[in-house]
Amino acid sequence: MTAIIKQGNVAVPRHVAIIMDGNGRWAQSRFLPRAEGHRRGVESVRRTIEAAAKCGVPFLSLFAFSSENWRRPPEEVNALMKLFATALKREAKHMLANGVRMRVAGDLTAFSEDIQQSIAESEAMTASCDRMVLTICANYGGRWDIVEAMRKMVKAHPDVAEHPERITEAMVSEHMAFDWAPEVDLMIRTGGEQRISNFILWQAAYAELYVTRTLWPDFREEDFMGAIEWFNDRERRFGMTGDQVRANK
Ligand code: IPE
Ligand code: IPE
Ligand code: MG
Repeated sequence: MTAIIKQGNVAVPRHVAIIMDGNGRWAQSRFLPRAEGHRRGVESVRRTIEAAAKCGVPFLSLFAFSSENWRRPPEEVNALMKLFATALKREAKHMLANGVRMRVAGDLTAFSEDIQQSIAESEAMTASCDRMVLTICANYGGRWDIVEAMRKMVKAHPDVAEHPERITEAMVSEHMAFDWAPEVDLMIRTGGEQRISNFILWQAAYAELYVTRTLWPDFREEDFMGAIEWFNDRERRFGMTGDQVRANK
């Protein structure tokens, strides 16, 4: 439950997850193609990684492409794939220079060989970076993650098929994605929608949810800091009463 790190008077969440939404609306309001919004969104990604590393967040997870986003028009999916491939190649060097370790969570089998190779290269290139772990969630879905974890768990513990009562939360957790990170403390969504859209479910069971109307391409360091400040005013009770929490401080 000590999900925070103290930096002076500021409590820094250990794991921040962001639903980067609003690229399409940003572009459409300017009569630009949606792909232009995604392109500008990559700049917000870079700024946000820098902001999070600067304020000492150890784990940052970004929702880049959901398991449902394949339902978009093929031109938009293609544009997103191209952008993903070029951004991976270009940003890996920045991450290395900033001490950021990059990992990817999601069903990668759906991506082209080229993208899968770029992912493997970026992960390998930044493997020894220890300032912050950035997880890019690509073809990720919270439900996919839970089902995958179940499959892996049953494989690792074949006895549970006969004895389901032996299944524990810890056994499931062990096989979920992000096994390198603590649970999500703060989930940010840009673009104003108040929904989770099948992002991290299991590992965000007790995350604080921060929604801003700011569209992702407009998201700046000060917006990130605003979310951290808001997080600082939350009382995380984890099922207890406020009095109990304050007595334990
Ligand atoms: C988020 O922006 C990026 C992805 C889902 C890849 P959107 O493209 O969903 O932007 P809006 O919600 O249509 O404005
Ligand atoms: C969630 O945004 C996915 C990402 C940010 C990658 P969407 O724009 O796909 O979410 P919905 O469909 O509006 O819920
Ligand atoms: Mg959207």
